[in-house]
Amino acid sequence: MQKKGIDLTVLNQLIGEYKDNKGALIPLLQKAQEHYGYLPELVMSEVAKALNMSSADVYGVATFYKQFRFNPMGKYVIKVCHGTACHVAGVNILDTMFDQVLKIKAGETTEDGLFTILSVACLGCCSLAPVIMINDETYGHLNTDKLVKIIDSYRAKEGK
Ligand code: FES
Repeated sequence: MQKKGIDLTVLNQLIGEYKDNKGALIPLLQKAQEHYGYLPELVMSEVAKALNMSSADVYGVATFYKQFRFNPMGKYVIKVCHGTACHVAGVNILDTMFDQVLKIKAGETTEDGLFTILSVACLGCCSLAPVIMINDETYGHLNTDKLVKIIDSYRAKEGK
């Protein structure tokens, strides 16, 4: 079933699976986010209806947890490692660079929908610190010059 451009088939299946469980709200929101990439308003209101809660209560719970997102992710998701090794190696400089080049901070998406930045814990390749991942691609030993070139190459790929 499609509502406001969002296909609710999977959500309805998830609701069927979870709604009679105690404490269904969080797992249901997690599964919904896994499927949709974020939590659209419509999804939260459908979950609220199914669990006999108000939309405001569902939204209130969802915003309490950092794991939930309320906007679609960009085409390229940039995971910026903030583990200890990357911190020591200067990841903060990269954050400043993202701010200047993409004009967004962690948790935000560029206006053109191309990039989303996520701040994450250790990516498991500390010897490459500071490290970022763009979708499935890992980039290590970064400095600001390298970072600008990498972002430019993605923009060029998209004709921007
Ligand atoms: S601390 Fe960044 S990859 Fe481990």
